Amino acid sequence: MDNFTLRDGTLHAEDVSLPAIADAVGTPVYVYSTATLERHVHVFRDAVAGLGKGEPLVAFAVKANPNKAVLATLARAGMGADVVSGGELYRALDAGMDPNKVVFSGVGKTADEMAQALNAGIGQFNIESEPELDMLSAVATRLGKVAQIAIRVNPDVIAGTHAKISTGGKENKFGIDYHAAPAAYAHAASLPGIRVRGVAVHIGSQLTDLLPLEAAFGRVGALIRDLRAAGHDITHADLGGGLGVPYDPARPLPPSPAEYGAMVARATAGWDARLMFEPGRLIVANAGVLVSRVIRVKQGATAPFVVVDAAMNDLLRPSLYDAYHDIRAVTPTGERAVTNIVGPVCETGDTFALGREMDVVAADDLVAFMTAGAYGATMASTYNSRALVPEVLVAGDRFAVVRERPPIEALAQADRLPPWL
Ligand code: LLP
Repeated sequence: MDNFTLRDGTLHAEDVSLPAIADAVGTPVYVYSTATLERHVHVFRDAVAGLGKGEPLVAFAVKANPNKAVLATLARAGMGADVVSGGELYRALDAGMDPNKVVFSGVGKTADEMAQALNAGIGQFNIESEPELDMLSAVATRLGKVAQIAIRVNPDVIAGTHAKISTGGKENKFGIDYHAAPAAYAHAASLPGIRVRGVAVHIGSQLTDLLPLEAAFGRVGALIRDLRAAGHDITHADLGGGLGVPYDPARPLPPSPAEYGAMVARATAGWDARLMFEPGRLIVANAGVLVSRVIRVKQGATAPFVVVDAAMNDLLRPSLYDAYHDIRAVTPTGERAVTNIVGPVCETGDTFALGREMDVVAADDLVAFMTAGAYGATMASTYNSRALVPEVLVAGDRFAVVRERPPIEALAQADRLPPWL
């Protein structure tokens, strides 16, 4: 469910018409709905409420959408943050996230990033290798601090999603093999700068089947029992993110947060640990659309090419993962036709849809790429020397530019000539 609906024949974000935003800010532009963001937080929280020991900690995966206004909205709704870099940590804290509710994930944390996180007093580091444990202990000891950690285990399950976003197979770079985990925990317990508190797992993103998750959680449960038997004080279990969202209206719906919650209840019964979650896409994907204007319609061999002013640099998912985004006319006429939707970038991969039946659009019309709030603006680049796409947040009948479109001169001005030119 989202808050992008047709009113008087025109697509609105809550009470604001998308043409009003396009006229004020220009296109392409990302538009987010506060009401949808807040509803997703509540739906997810309700789905996991009462599970585990104490209230679950829901830490938003900042990588999905690090805009300050989005993070501040989520922080105000009580969410924590899952960060994977010093930059994400900075942005999460800058947006008002509680450091205690911050988890630091990722295989490549540097000593500087560890120090930054320790000084900020974050709640938990999710550790992905023994060398990382050693480095964190050394940094913490130097700073006179103790780092609270979980070890991210690699449960070796097939997540059944796109290979580029699967993380829980033993061939993937993530986590410590769950067979090797007991030895890693023993090592962690011997380090002066480390306090072990949990087990973490995350097997991939855009998961549309709960079985791989349940299998992974089963392995985590067995490990928690073994670790406790070995004397470790395991008080937290971080179950990661990954629940998929509906992108293609013609495909079956992915499991709902409530179904996910019921599975988690089953899988974690008797764990006696505080549960943590790291949803990203589920919170923000359907809270955002990318609005773009049709530049022109060009004849094609089999279907017309609708050339829009958004491109692969603004929304990379279709070209990187062959991802499907529903594309709608902002003011549909009711006519439908088979169409190719492409951007202006000089690559064949700059294609959003091929041979797709969709609303008929003409030059100057607006289109909306749906379900674009996650991994959209944050993966944008300036390829083809195109300005970074701006972002707008809507709340009821108000909207605000929450990231400006930088002037194209700023791109050129960041370059420097060496002294010999
Ligand atoms: N926790 C960890 C450790 C992760 O690596 C991720 C996502 C998440 C949580 C959040 O997963 P989510 O709930 O959003 O599925 N750019 C790709 C998605 C990459 C996801 C990477 N990790 C895409 O556009 O589909």
